[in-house]
Amino acid sequence: MAHRRALRNERWIDMEETEKKEKKIILSGIQPTGIFTLGNYIGAVKNWKKMQDEYNCAYFIADLHSLTIRQDPAALRKQSLNAFALLLACGIDPEKSLIFIQSHVQTHAELCWVLSCCSQFGELSRMTQFKDKSAKHADNVNAGLFTYPALMAADILLYQADLVPVGIDQKQHLEFTRDIATRFNNVYGNTFKLPEPFIPKAGAKVASLQDPTKKMSKSDENANASIFILDEPNVIINKFKRAVTDSEKEVCFREGKDGINNLMTIYSAVTGKTMEQIELEFAGRGYGDFKLAVGEAVAEELRPIREDFKRYSEDKAYLEQVYRKGAQTAAAISARTMAKVKKKVGLLAL
Ligand code: TYM
Repeated sequence: MAHRRALRNERWIDMEETEKKEKKIILSGIQPTGIFTLGNYIGAVKNWKKMQDEYNCAYFIADLHSLTIRQDPAALRKQSLNAFALLLACGIDPEKSLIFIQSHVQTHAELCWVLSCCSQFGELSRMTQFKDKSAKHADNVNAGLFTYPALMAADILLYQADLVPVGIDQKQHLEFTRDIATRFNNVYGNTFKLPEPFIPKAGAKVASLQDPTKKMSKSDENANASIFILDEPNVIINKFKRAVTDSEKEVCFREGKDGINNLMTIYSAVTGKTMEQIELEFAGRGYGDFKLAVGEAVAEELRPIREDFKRYSEDKAYLEQVYRKGAQTAAAISARTMAKVKKKVGLLAL
């Protein structure tokens, strides 16, 4: 098949030291808790694709993080494989980037434990996502939900990442990662590189189409609130037609126009047009025309992803080959940091 190419992600381990020094390391992950939304795509995955040529990139499916919310085991397995196929369909290329599944690489859980022992109850209690998720799942406020940021810090620090491309909702976890890394380095000597968040200027928080004050989310109960990247074109266009806006008529980016601002941000992210160009394009035309144009542009952007996803998801043998190879490479790279950490904290070498 066209997509069956040689897997050369050993570029990560074998590359010359000089190249390694020149190219920054990028790392990011996404949970397999459902089909990615347009928010995941614009806020994160679209940028991951663009960064592959310039940087050494590592991307993974954060299945361990998903266990913090109760999951149906068979569904989670299927979603993880689908999420992996979606990454490929979104243009993440195993010839250029390291791609793997978090639970396949044991160092993540191992470093998470060490970092949990360096994390304070107070700082973990202040995490917005912990507060939100524990309110939403009040019957299952488990220890994993609480130490979630320590696992995320382990994901990042194991690979000595320079930049972490994420949406704005993950910024606090990145700050936590830097705090933990700094603390560890101060106590045990320089071990971890301090990562910087890489947050896109436009699209860092794509809002719900039904309540533009809220973030677009995979788990929204209102089906019209989120665009899923495998939605059919007519579904996408209809969801945009129903998007909540305001009682004015003018397409312009202004405070208080949350619905229109969100649609303009989405349109800008998929067409590359500036806000001024969009205002000019729709001057004197109503919201109806604008919503249709946004829907059509998004449907067109997502069309190839839908087609490629079908192809990848039908080729289970290829997917397995890619994630096995990814797991091996990720294990080899992360083992270096893990060995240093074990030595520094005083664990007896085997
Ligand atoms: P997750 O799976 O919730 O989301 C994946 C990425 O999508 C971004 N995102 C959005 N961006 C803009 N608008 C939205 N509406 C929107 N919704 C989601 C998120 O900011 C994220 O970048 N904890 C992480 C996964 C993770 C991770 C990591 C990320 C685990 N370990 C290490 C970076 C580095 C999460 O749950 O993302």
